[in-house]
Amino acid sequence: MALTATLVVLASGSGSNLQAILDACDRGELDAEVSLVVVNRRSAYAAERAEARGIPTHYAPLGPYRQQFDDLSAARTAYDTDLAAVVAAASPDLVVQAGWMHLFSMGFLGAFPDQVVNLHPALPGRFPGAHAIDDAWTEHQNSGLDRTGVMVHLVPDEGVDDGPVIAFEEIPIHADDKREDLEARIHCVEHRVFPAAIAQLLESR
Ligand code: GAR
Repeated sequence: MALTATLVVLASGSGSNLQAILDACDRGELDAEVSLVVVNRRSAYAAERAEARGIPTHYAPLGPYRQQFDDLSAARTAYDTDLAAVVAAASPDLVVQAGWMHLFSMGFLGAFPDQVVNLHPALPGRFPGAHAIDDAWTEHQNSGLDRTGVMVHLVPDEGVDDGPVIAFEEIPIHADDKREDLEARIHCVEHRVFPAAIAQLLESR
């Protein structure tokens, strides 16, 4: 991809990985610009990080759709279809899930084939869901798990934290670790691996 790529970033929380992407763009390590940041929680600090950079933000809560539709599946489909239109209007080359805690249906994913990228704080195939660090820590305490990791993958379908892997890195769990040591180590690796994986994917296209 010769021209500077356009990213739309989706986040539900602190947005430290959004920050890592913006910093990598600033350093010239990632030839991209973030044209829109979408958050689905009012409290998501990611929105403040975006606003501090003058990046447009969009707040997209699922709640109103759950009130409108009796059926959760119908609510998700309507939400995903509407959000796909908002994201498509920003013309992204990639849609980047950076701590995005909402599982998309094909109503969203069908609009962005091979364009949705997800970060997950575990090795491929391990600990899917929103509590991967807790799950690895529990297995460390119960049965001595001595490594976990982070991965970046494409999101082709509704599989949870599953899809073609772009990059992953193992992370040791040391015997004298506290849980917060492991979490800090994981985030530190994420902030390096995620922007690099996005750059690698863009360069391959
Ligand atoms: C990151 O650790 C990311 O891997 C995880 O959410 C965190 C977001 O942190 N994602 C998942 O667990 C996806 N299943 P951030 O808001 O500081 O970027």
